Amino acid sequence: MPHPLTTRRHVLAGLSAAALPAMASAIAHAASGPSLRALGAEKGILFGSALSARISDAPYLDVLKAECGVIVPENELKVYVIAPQPDRYNFAPGDAIAGFARDNGMKMRGHTLLWNRVEYMPKWLLNIDFGSNPARGAERYLRDYIRQVCTHYGDQIISWDVVNETIDPKTGEIRDTPFTKALGFDCIRIAFEAAREYAPKAQLVYNDYMSWERGNETHRKGVLKLLETLRAKNVPVDGFGVQSHIGNDGHIKEAQHDQWRAFINAAVDMKYKLLITEFDVNDKDLPTDTAVRDAGVAAAAKDYLDMMFSYKELDQFLCWGMSDNHSWLQGWMPRADKTPQRPTPYDAQYRPKPLREAIAAALKAAPKR
Ligand code: G3I
Repeated sequence: MPHPLTTRRHVLAGLSAAALPAMASAIAHAASGPSLRALGAEKGILFGSALSARISDAPYLDVLKAECGVIVPENELKVYVIAPQPDRYNFAPGDAIAGFARDNGMKMRGHTLLWNRVEYMPKWLLNIDFGSNPARGAERYLRDYIRQVCTHYGDQIISWDVVNETIDPKTGEIRDTPFTKALGFDCIRIAFEAAREYAPKAQLVYNDYMSWERGNETHRKGVLKLLETLRAKNVPVDGFGVQSHIGNDGHIKEAQHDQWRAFINAAVDMKYKLLITEFDVNDKDLPTDTAVRDAGVAAAAKDYLDMMFSYKELDQFLCWGMSDNHSWLQGWMPRADKTPQRPTPYDAQYRPKPLREAIAAALKAAPKR
């Protein structure tokens, strides 16, 4: 395996110039007034977004530079990117994002060390042989992977989604993966303990997508049970990442306010810090008309963010992309009318939308933390 530092320098020299060009130009249609970063900072909320290393259009990067104080790689720190093969680690895409964050004075989050879902593990990992003592073999592999990734990025990553989406929304139980087969719940404990050891200054987060709409009841219950177990077993977890892909299950208008507040209260009572890690609004339930749709998205967002910002335990808020053309929802959840989704604060021409105003208004209304 190449020496990590050699690889990193090599990649930063190449990719930050090619894939993520630094541009001095202003945003084509800058939002008036203070940036979301500034509005968040006034309240003690760090604002930012996901970014994919595949994106190289300068106006989009300008939006991020103007608005964000923190960046998280959308896919580049996932095991299927870092370890597509068992014996060769690829930090190049993640390094490109790290370079962009550093060059623009932004903080960086990490996503994710153990995405405990078979769908997002490379094939070789699904067929891995952990040896004659599978528990010991699996622990050795997991700890070594986390050591390599955490030490590669060092203190630049201020907060890690250590474990992502390990609860099956249908059953509320921990999903089956090669790691749970070998270790059971212990794979979760080991991941957090290794992250604490190899990223000692980083905030350690459990991240999941249970939402506030009808249909998420079993998922929420399962996540709370996990958060309780983590506390009962003294696992080093600092924060609870609430992804916040609202509207994703097709019930955007069926938010369960009371149940959601009880859910978040329970997490806060267990002394978890709160983060919104992947905010966007799926508009597939809303009509085709752009103005009506944008107003619906903005209203849903304001409703949600007002409640979430009322918790002073919440001090990070990241969108999962800042403009509609770069949203994962376009490919993953197309609308029935085939028009593009409008789930993010900026449109495809990088013009701020009503959703951006709703976010700004929610930040202005938030209590200081
Ligand atoms: O890079 C390949 C490309 O070479 C290939 O031609 C193309 C064809 O499908 O696929 C490209 O990879 C895709 C990658 O995104 C980059 O665009 C993958 O197929 C696709 O599965 C991947 O989707 C990502 C998904 O996670 C799975 O990793 C989305 O971009 C990303 O937004 C999404 O993010 C997740 C969070 O990690 C966890 N929470 C939910 C969130 C949304 O699903």
